[in-house]
Amino acid sequence: MADVDVIKSHLTSHPDFPKKGIVFLDVFPILRQPLIFETLITHLVQHITSHTIGISQKKKIDVIVGLDARGFLFGPIIALRLGAAFVPVRKAGKLPGKCISASYEKEYGMDSFEMQADAIKPGQTVVVIDDLLATGGSAKAAGELVAELGGKTLEYIFVIELLLLKGASKLDGPVYSVIQTE
Ligand code: PRP
Ligand code: ADE
Ligand code: MG
Repeated sequence: MADVDVIKSHLTSHPDFPKKGIVFLDVFPILRQPLIFETLITHLVQHITSHTIGISQKKKIDVIVGLDARGFLFGPIIALRLGAAFVPVRKAGKLPGKCISASYEKEYGMDSFEMQADAIKPGQTVVVIDDLLATGGSAKAAGELVAELGGKTLEYIFVIELLLLKGASKLDGPVYSVIQTE
């Protein structure tokens, strides 16, 4: 089996969670298997080193931005492997110091994100990472925060993309997802 199919076979699907009508795809079973988790991280790092860094026309990515909470599972590991900074986008009210914020709607509700105002410097290159792209509301809000600080989002990267919800069309940059599903 190809690596991507092996990773996909470890996702679990939960109908009517967290609300009736939502089919929730759980990424955590991948993390229970160190070899599968390693395969996924290596796949993402290879994508960035072979593809995204080319878009940047620089030798490296400056900042990996990860989305609270499941983006934190992948973002810091990838940042360490690339020698990039890791910057969190957090749900409102969790970050100290001066913050900027953006409200958004996601597949099953409304929410608000914040980023520390000094976390990204104007002109820095950024890759936004999250576990899953559904409607794109969360990733769009994260991209808006990066842009407000003057960062340049080169790519939005996800483990899973729910194609039917067309989230990629909301985002102002290229999208890469390891696993695509309806
Ligand atoms: C989930 C998921 C993505 C987002 C995708 O986060 O982890 O971040 O929804 O939905 P969207 O594309 O429609 O915006 P959620 O905030 O629900 O949970 P988490 O805190 O566990 O990451
Ligand atoms: N976030 C938004 N929609 C989701 C889904 N269907 N499964 C898991 N996380 C999600
Ligand atoms: Mg999330």
